[in-house]
Amino acid sequence: MKIAFFDTKPYDKASFDKYAKAHDISIKYFETKLTEDTASLAQGYDAVCVFVNDNVNSAVIDKLVEYGVGIVALRCAGFNNVDMKYAYGKVHVLRVPAYSPYAVAEHTMAMLLTSIRRIHKAYIRTRDFNFSLSGMTGFDLYGKTVGVVGTGRIGRVFIDICRGFGMKVLAYDKYPYAGLDDGVNVRYVELDELFEKSDIISLHCPLTEDTYHIINEDSIAKCKKGVILLNTSRGALVDAEALLNAIKARKVGGACLDVYEEEADFFFEDYSGHILDDDILARLISMPNVIVTSHQAFLTEEALMNIADTTISNIVGFVKNGECPNELCYRGECATDCKSGKCF
Ligand code: NAI
Repeated sequence: MKIAFFDTKPYDKASFDKYAKAHDISIKYFETKLTEDTASLAQGYDAVCVFVNDNVNSAVIDKLVEYGVGIVALRCAGFNNVDMKYAYGKVHVLRVPAYSPYAVAEHTMAMLLTSIRRIHKAYIRTRDFNFSLSGMTGFDLYGKTVGVVGTGRIGRVFIDICRGFGMKVLAYDKYPYAGLDDGVNVRYVELDELFEKSDIISLHCPLTEDTYHIINEDSIAKCKKGVILLNTSRGALVDAEALLNAIKARKVGGACLDVYEEEADFFFEDYSGHILDDDILARLISMPNVIVTSHQAFLTEEALMNIADTTISNIVGFVKNGECPNELCYRGECATDCKSGKCF
């Protein structure tokens, strides 16, 4: 069994080598992303293993079919980078639905605390022996209202963390989670009410046609002045230009972004010493109340081991049994809500 592994980073190899060896699988690691131009590297392999910024569009899928590559193994949960409607019936798309919701939820809270308690500024100041506190006033999380969009695995862990801080939670989900709404501390509301009443808004829904630019000029206009926006989900949930304008207008009080709409061009790479071409990203990063991490929320030791274990098990299980519970669009469960009628 041979796997072509795209967009490899040094931290991928230790965990994947461990589980591949246990199953007698050989992995060829490519640093390049999977695109139309690089798909030919997959020739001769049984499966490709891809991450969030590999582009599995229709042209790539056609090439994989041509080369006889039947499996696309995502080593992540989100699958917005795969044209699922096109993939159905051509290649089998396997994913890792959950590897550590704690990793992402904890990173989200780390970013929030960093932002509102000005830790990023304090770290730099004290290294320069500047012990002044001017401009460092934060605010308590206790008693504040957090709006959580998407109450799946990560959203619910984040809600638990927020409840630990004594925060009130307003939740929104297209498919509410039974038993989460206690009528007092956690309440499901419509999106508009969430925008209007939340001091902090955190996005934990997938990127779909419904959620594309769910944070835009109109939704920001409905928010409280000074709202803090957290996005550790997918960049295109937020219209970055609208966010930048709202920060300049002092409407948004802070933004913590682990993802960015155009991140595929930059994130995971070292661009220090280069001139950044993306003016919106550069301007956002220059803001004192914006914190950007480069799609790092998942990156814990536990998550990396779980990702490798599940990815390899998915492939081995699929080859052995001809099916895998972590296949997208598996046994009547529509992964994309595509309503194409083509599934099943
Ligand atoms: P999940 O599938 O457990 O939960 C997603 C939730 O969003 C579900 O409850 C679903 O009903 C809800 N949802 C679907 N459509 C919606 C809509 N239109 N409006 C509101 N809610 C909607 O997924 P999980 O594991 O909680 O992950 C959430 C997202 O986090 C992923 O889609 C992925 O984009 C992102 N993620 C980011 C990582 C990072 O490193 N920054 C790592 C892992 C995931």
